[in-house]
Amino acid sequence: MHQSPMEMTFAYFILHALLLLQFSLRSNAREIIEKHVGNDYTHSGNLKEDHHGPHGLDPTLSVFFRVGDLYLGKKMPICFAAYDNSNPTHLLSQDEANSIPFSSSKLPYLLEFFSIPKNSPQAKAMEATLNQCEHKPAKGEVKFCANSLESMMDMTLGVLGKVKPKVLTTKIFSSNHTFFQNYTFVKKPLEIYASKKVACHAMAYPYKVYYCHGHKGHTDRLFKIDLHGENGERVDAIAVCHMDTSMWDSNHIAFRVLGVQPRSSPVCHFLPPDNLAWIPSA
Ligand SMILES: *[C@@H]1O[C@H](CO)[C@@H](O)[C@H](O)[C@H]1NC(C)=O
Ligand SMILES: *[C@@H]1O[C@H](CO)[C@@H](O)[C@H](O)[C@H]1NC(C)=O
Repeated sequence: MHQSPMEMTFAYFILHALLLLQFSLRSNAREIIEKHVGNDYTHSGNLKEDHHGPHGLDPTLSVFFRVGDLYLGKKMPICFAAYDNSNPTHLLSQDEANSIPFSSSKLPYLLEFFSIPKNSPQAKAMEATLNQCEHKPAKGEVKFCANSLESMMDMTLGVLGKVKPKVLTTKIFSSNHTFFQNYTFVKKPLEIYASKKVACHAMAYPYKVYYCHGHKGHTDRLFKIDLHGENGERVDAIAVCHMDTSMWDSNHIAFRVLGVQPRSSPVCHFLPPDNLAWIPSA
């Protein structure tokens, strides 16, 4: 009953994105955070809207779709986590990252440092992130957490090899992003072929931390999908299709959302705007 770390992380992302947005940062950490994270934590307005997805579940689960949905003209409701593209966020520099411990054994100190109350949802989210980062990779799997740009690049190149890396992200072209709405696939989805990939998911933490995992296999397929929202918003989305879900937990939420037989159907999902997919540039 092994749940793929990718999917576990994705579930964490969805869960923790909500907590993350509530982080309030004070004290000596503030300067670093404001400089590098800007108002990443303050654009949560839309998250408070109470919508229900077509499956009657949390709308944040409206990111999954089937391989058979990859056609021009497909229309579906999608939730892209709130995102402010006028205010890009950055990873800490290596020096800054090195000046702050990053270990679950230092959690009490870190909570004090960031002025986060013990046992608060934020504290629990931080602990979950640290635990996730300290979890040993499964056999044959490459995973790491990056809390600086340098460490992300070093470790990503360790997976991709001596190549020029290229990063793929979901881009939202709107000054007025609607958290949850219907989108139409306005072009035929374009498959992006890559022999190796590293996917990095933003984690709940007081500064930018990514959980990354690498694949050398060919069981995941990447797509670029151009979307138009009902409100006229344009999104250049990146999506991943996991073709082999036979090792996933049969209770994985994606199977329920899609109404498919667990572990016997591929599962696709859109990448949230702050996730990164690294591939070798052609
Ligand atoms: C933003 O979008 C919402 C929903 O589509 C709309 O009600 C609102 O008027 C828009 N605001 C602006 C400033 O365009
Ligand atoms: C999407 O469109 C369907 C059918 O037109 C509608 O019932 C549904 O409420 C829409 N969903 C959203 C999130 O706007």
